[in-house]
Amino acid sequence: MAIEAWFMEENDEDRRLPHHRNPKEFVSLHHLADLGVLYWHLNPKHYENDEELKKIREDRGYSYTDMLDLCPEKMENYEEKLRNFYTEHIHGDEEIRYCLEGSGYFDVRDKNDRWIRIWIKAGDLIVLPAGIYHRFTLDTSNYVKLMRLFVGEPVWTAYNRPQEDHPARKNYIVKIGVPLQAH
Ligand code: LAC
Ligand code: NI
Repeated sequence: MAIEAWFMEENDEDRRLPHHRNPKEFVSLHHLADLGVLYWHLNPKHYENDEELKKIREDRGYSYTDMLDLCPEKMENYEEKLRNFYTEHIHGDEEIRYCLEGSGYFDVRDKNDRWIRIWIKAGDLIVLPAGIYHRFTLDTSNYVKLMRLFVGEPVWTAYNRPQEDHPARKNYIVKIGVPLQAH
């Protein structure tokens, strides 16, 4: 099953709810690819010796991995981390996450600055390009286990919006063709 993504209805309801528009407006993988967002579906049970994952890592240079278990018992500063994840930001590098258990939402901005909500579940591997505005929240299942990947030594620094002068943002805008008024 392919990943589901949709345009968000922005309101004050719990961020962990789906926030569909009425009627629902789904977003295709093609549309996500057009924003530079990449997606694979793998078998999360075999991640330890998965040839497909190995090939993606080799092809894209993802030498580094670690695990992020988002639950209060396994994480220091849980509330603060979740708050930071949901603050709109960019990174200087790709954000690569492979969901092994549970589920959650990555929200990304489209070219017209609308939020697209991407629902990731076990087996979904997504790559957010450097410079894309995004954020993350758990959904109502309240649990996710993510593999984080990176090219070389990891840098997790988040730069909160606005970041129009950040080189990664400028680069993204040129590459993707974001219209000026959306900055
Ligand atoms: C993040 C978490 C969700 O970095 O991996 O946003
Ligand atoms: Ni991020």
